Amino acid sequence: MKRVLLIIAGGIAAFKALELIRLLRKSGHGVTCVLTDHGGQFVTPLSLQALSENKVYRELFSLTDESEMGHIQLSRSADLVVVAPATANILAKMAAGLADDLASTVLLATDKPVLVAPAMNVRMWLHPATQANMKSLAARGVQVIGPDEGAMACNEFGPGRMSEPPAILTAIEALLAPPARPLDGRHVIVTSGPTHEPIDPVRYIANRSSGRQGHAIAAALAALGARVTLISGPVSVPDPSGVSVHRVESAREMLDACQAALPADAAVFAAAVADWRVANASDGKIKKQPGAAAPALALIPNPDILATIAAAGPNRPRLVVGFAAETDDLLANAQGKLVRKNADFIVANDVSPETGIMGGAENAVHLISAAGVETWPRLAKEAVAARLAARIAEALT
Ligand code: CTP
Repeated sequence: MKRVLLIIAGGIAAFKALELIRLLRKSGHGVTCVLTDHGGQFVTPLSLQALSENKVYRELFSLTDESEMGHIQLSRSADLVVVAPATANILAKMAAGLADDLASTVLLATDKPVLVAPAMNVRMWLHPATQANMKSLAARGVQVIGPDEGAMACNEFGPGRMSEPPAILTAIEALLAPPARPLDGRHVIVTSGPTHEPIDPVRYIANRSSGRQGHAIAAALAALGARVTLISGPVSVPDPSGVSVHRVESAREMLDACQAALPADAAVFAAAVADWRVANASDGKIKKQPGAAAPALALIPNPDILATIAAAGPNRPRLVVGFAAETDDLLANAQGKLVRKNADFIVANDVSPETGIMGGAENAVHLISAAGVETWPRLAKEAVAARLAARIAEALT
């Protein structure tokens, strides 16, 4: 639940604040009211309290209010501060930084976004003093809604009417909503880590992948708003937060989990999948036989997960990203994989032992696509992940 601190200053439009509170409550927001002395001439604390279902704050030096919740805390306990109606007087106090009552003190002390809904006589609104105040408030990031133009209570016509409560509610909700992120509403599958291919129930074939790069990519995609399904082989790096993690062991389990996670807008295959598995994996632990020869392990190919998911079909993600871990002829091999596996991007890295990349904290990659080769500087794996996530977001828009 988002919380709004509503400051009601003294204007005839104060009666509209009651409707605004009702709309805010109906939309599931919490409302706490601060009523100025002049505001109290137009609406009663009792009405505000009944509609907001909350205590109403009025005095700066109230012994009980200050002991229950100090004015500094009051100014920061909400997600948004709204001044409606915002009179010429309170706007002038805000612009000047005056703090001579609870409302103006809260406005000076708050670290939260502030929205004002001006309401005053048309001459007062058009006065250069008010216009100068509005300019300096806007320059400080204060948000403004209205005023509307129309007939006024004082029988004049022009801008000065407070915006209607439904319009103020819309402005409030736009400010309360988290900023849109480029991958909001997108689903991305990421594979990460090594696979373990069993020899028998206690032994397996594996590789040196740590899962750091794949996990960092999952986290970076989630940070851009994507719903991420991370399908991870056995790793010791922690699960990234905000990501749905599925743990698997073998390549075949990884493929099944990828297929079960479809459809997806994009898929990133960062796992170091074992190319082969043991054909004759034993159900029981293989025992040493005195004098007998060591067991021979026959290997058969694993399914290629990337190539399977990237093959044309109705379920193919719009963007498929593969990795190429090479020790020789990096670019030529990676470009071959782009075509052979039908990927849209290949992230190519040199995993020769002297680079320290496999299992290390940094990565130096080339991003290969039909458009050509981009060489990125050596970066922390998190930074490579952030760059790749941004490129994925760009490709999906
Ligand atoms: N990959 C996969 N399933 C496999 C093997 C690889 O999904 N069975 C994916 C990896 O996740 C990576 C890409 O394919 O995105 C390239 O893997 P890599 O091991 O570099 O290349 P391979 O295709 O295995 O070719 P080679 O072993 O000849 O280098």
